[in-house]
Amino acid sequence: MQIAVVGGGIIGATVAWRLAQHGARVTIFEARQWGAEASWAAAGMLAPGAEVTAVSAWAEMALASARMYPAFLRELEAASGVRIGYRPTGGLELFAGEAELADLASRAEPQRQLGIASRAVTAAEAMALAPSLRAPAGSAEYRFYPDDATVNPRDIMEALRVVCGNAVREQSPVRAVLWRDERAHVELEAGGEPLVFDAAVLAAGAWSSEVDMAVPVPSTFPVRGHLLGYDLPAGSLDPILRRGHTYLLQRTGGAFLAGASMEHAGFDRAIDPAIVETLRRNAASLFGKLEGLEPRPWVGFRPATGSGLPEIRPLSGQAPRIWLTCGHYRNGILLAPETARRVSAGLLA
Ligand code: FAD
Ligand code: GLY
Repeated sequence: MQIAVVGGGIIGATVAWRLAQHGARVTIFEARQWGAEASWAAAGMLAPGAEVTAVSAWAEMALASARMYPAFLRELEAASGVRIGYRPTGGLELFAGEAELADLASRAEPQRQLGIASRAVTAAEAMALAPSLRAPAGSAEYRFYPDDATVNPRDIMEALRVVCGNAVREQSPVRAVLWRDERAHVELEAGGEPLVFDAAVLAAGAWSSEVDMAVPVPSTFPVRGHLLGYDLPAGSLDPILRRGHTYLLQRTGGAFLAGASMEHAGFDRAIDPAIVETLRRNAASLFGKLEGLEPRPWVGFRPATGSGLPEIRPLSGQAPRIWLTCGHYRNGILLAPETARRVSAGLLA
């Protein structure tokens, strides 16, 4: 099978790698630069403990993907020769005030049903896990999620670039993917004759619904996020540290991240100083070592759909071998291995 993949982010790249492993001849069309959008911007938390708060098919998928991660990374490292920063450190979350405590209470039963491990820890234990943690004024509860982990998504993209090799065509925006005579016809924005494939996969992240697919596809849109990078010595923070929308983590090698905002601002890449200042304050109020440090901010575009859920399925009966795989929103790094398994199993069945 000759298969076109539209989008060279973690979703398109992981799907393409799996398809090629099963014998497909894959071409990946990337509009701009390999792995330079959401998959570059992401923090890289693999954190069902913090992100999964209700029982759903999506939650089951996230957990399946989390379980696949260690083997996925071992296989990708072996195939590419690229070392991928991965820290199975667990996550420590702090809850204070009525709304946060209600959130903690409401996720307890669904997480128990889903088998997400966690335990209450005392303030003293929390301090031992994260020595620069600043406890809030008043009472607080602390919970440790031992199975949460972090990975460096930029390392993953570098490794996927190696394994995808000359299947990748950068600076090649796709205008349309049409289904005619039982084939996928890929039209490039640069013009020329359509390129014809046996099948196609649409994985263009937040831009997915800008590609003309001839049949209606769910609307995708960006939910912009600002993240802050700091320089702190390696070993400054072990687990992911979270409170509400604020999260902190340190990658292997030392890069220290604080996130994240959520804005409906279209594809505006401008850094908003007011948002940076709020993130900086929230981060320092959680972790004393950040006080007074000047962060490096960046933004990325989470690929969202109206339902808040990923769309991973064939387009319709009218185009059975065109698959959608978009809308991974806040968890596309986590969801990549299971997404690739589903798409390759479905397309090559
Ligand atoms: P992208 O990485 O955006 O890739 C889509 C690609 O398609 C782009 O390279 C784009 O140039 C290309 N493209 C667009 N249009 C076309 C076209 N017409 N033709 C060809 N190519 C096209 N997820 C987690 O699991 N854990 C986290 O901790 C986490 N943190 C995040 C923090 C922030 C601030 C942000 C913004 C996101 C975070 N995410 C996280 C979410 C995660 O980054 C995304 O869900 C994931 O990267 C989506 O991957 P993707 O391949 O679908 O999209
Ligand atoms: N999953 C973290 C974020 O999207 O900011």
